[in-house]
Amino acid sequence: GLPPKVTIYEVGPRDGLQNEQALVPTEVKAAFVRRLLAAGLPIVEATSFVHPKWVPQLADAAELMTGLTAEIGDTARDLPVLVPNDRGLDRALELGLRHVAVFASATETFAAKNLNRTLETQFAMFEPTVARAVASGVDVRGYVSMCFGDPWEGPVPVDQVVAVGRRLLDLGCHQLSLGDTIGVATAGQVRALVAGFAAAGVAADRLALHFHDTYGQALTNVHAGLQAGVTTYDASAGGLGGCPYAKSATGNLATEDLVWFLTGLGIEHGVDLRAVVDASTWMAGHLGRPSPSAVVRALAQS
Ligand code: HMG
Ligand code: MG
Repeated sequence: GLPPKVTIYEVGPRDGLQNEQALVPTEVKAAFVRRLLAAGLPIVEATSFVHPKWVPQLADAAELMTGLTAEIGDTARDLPVLVPNDRGLDRALELGLRHVAVFASATETFAAKNLNRTLETQFAMFEPTVARAVASGVDVRGYVSMCFGDPWEGPVPVDQVVAVGRRLLDLGCHQLSLGDTIGVATAGQVRALVAGFAAAGVAADRLALHFHDTYGQALTNVHAGLQAGVTTYDASAGGLGGCPYAKSATGNLATEDLVWFLTGLGIEHGVDLRAVVDASTWMAGHLGRPSPSAVVRALAQS
C-alpha cells in the first residue's frame, strides 16, 4: 500500500523566487514564508547563500533571515537554506541557522553551468562544507540535480545518479533530494531510480523527490515515488520556479496540486490547502503573473 503520511518540503521562496524576473522586496519574501508556515507547511526552504551575482534574486538572503528571526524568533533558524560552499556556510552560521542544503549535479555539463566545477571537483567544494556543518550540529540535505534528463546530455544513467547521491550521503548529508530539474522524468524512471538507490543500500526513507512539471508528469511521478515508499516530496506554492542555470526548466510541482492529490488518496500531510492558495494568489499579484497551477486557478475562483 501507499504510505499513510507524507512530508511536503516547500521550496517556493527559494526555487520559486530564484527564477522570477521581478525583484521581490525582502519584506514580501518574509511575508510569503510566514504565510506558508501558517498554512501548515512543516518545512519551508527560505533562500540561498549563493554568490549574489549568480542569483541576484536571492542576494538579500542575510537580510531576509535576520528579518524573519526578528519576526518569528527561533523558528526562522530551522528554515533550510542552500549553501554551495564554505563561504555560503559561513554566512548561514553567522545567523545561527540550523538546516542547510548543498546541491550537486549528476551531470558534467550542469556541474559546470550551475557550480563552475566538474562532476568530480564539485565534491571537493562540498566536502569541507558538509563536514563543518555536521560538526557544528547543522543538519545537511543533499540535492542531486539532473537525475532523469539533462538538456545538454540527454537521459542520465541511474548508476551515475546513484554514485553522486552515495557520495553526498557519505560526506554526511542526512537526506537526498533527487531533482528532475527540467521536468522530463516519467514514472518508470522514478521507479528505476529509487530501485537503483535501494540496490546501493540507500533506503527510500533517506530520499526525497523534487519534480518540475514541464511535461505535466509531476503528480504521476509522485505516485510512482509513493509506490516505491518515498515519503518526502518537494513542491512550490503556486508552481513558481525553475532554475536560472538550466534552460527549459519550468516551475516546480505546485504545492496545491500535491496537496489536492494526497488528500484524494487519504494521505496525511497537515497542510491547509485554502491558505496555500491564498498565499500563492497574493504572491502572483506581486509577481504580476497568474499561477500556472490548475488547482490554484480552480480554487482561486471558488
Ligand atoms: P565560483 O565563481 O567558482 O566561486 O562560483 P569561487 O569559489 O571561485 O569564488 C569567487 C568569489 O565568489 C570569491 O570572492 C568568493 O568569496 C565569492 P572574491 O574572493 O573573488 O572576492 N563567493 C561567494 N560569495 C557569497 N556567497 C557564496 C560565495 N561563494 C563564493 N556562497 C559558486 C561557485 C558555487 C559560488 C557559484 O557557482 C554559485 O553561486 N552557484 C549557485 C547557482 C545556483 O544557485 N543555482 C540554483 C540553485 S540549484 C537548483 O535550483 C536545483 C535544485 O532546485 C534541484 C533541482 O531542481 O534539480 C536544488
Ligand atoms: Mg529545482
